[in-house]
Amino acid sequence: MLHLRVATGPDWLERAVSDLGELLLDHAHCEQKAAGNAVALSFRYPTHPFLMRPLAELAEEELGHFREVLGRLEARGLEFRPQRASEYAGRLRRSVRPGEPERLLDTLLVSALIEARSCERFQILAEGCPDRDLAAFYGGLLASEARHHRVFLELARRIATVDAVRERLDELSEIEARVLFEAPASVRIHG
Ligand SMILES: [Fe+2]
Ligand SMILES: [Fe+2]
Repeated sequence: MLHLRVATGPDWLERAVSDLGELLLDHAHCEQKAAGNAVALSFRYPTHPFLMRPLAELAEEELGHFREVLGRLEARGLEFRPQRASEYAGRLRRSVRPGEPERLLDTLLVSALIEARSCERFQILAEGCPDRDLAAFYGGLLASEARHHRVFLELARRIATVDAVRERLDELSEIEARVLFEAPASVRIHG
């Protein structure tokens, strides 16, 4: 159960596989950001020891994914390069409320939704990417992204009641769907 309000439409796969190099570059950025966010969160909340081990494990795993995607880029003779900031992640992060404990709760739930959307799209790539080797690669990443989604939800449940988590997750998944729908069409995992 990924808690996504809307499913990805059929046009996304067509766009995504139209430039696999560009897709892999975006994916590399996603994994790098996921690792960086996990580390940053552990620095921001030294007061919350229960976050440390899950975040350390997450950071390590995302860094491993980053390295794997870099390998895929290199295999295609492509280099990592800068990318314009993602509107999807930027707008979602801006929906995080200031002030604690809302800020931490929202950050965990937004992270859970980003993981869920990655998972959904990796599944689509695993089934429909014409490069079968790459399709298998995405098939192999699916389970970790689904697990990351659950980890962030479990952490959210440590700081809020089941009802409070459900209510805010409902609101944020509504926002996620809108942000995704309004994002400019581009060759991105969250495009
Ligand atoms: Fe990842
Ligand atoms: Fe992840």
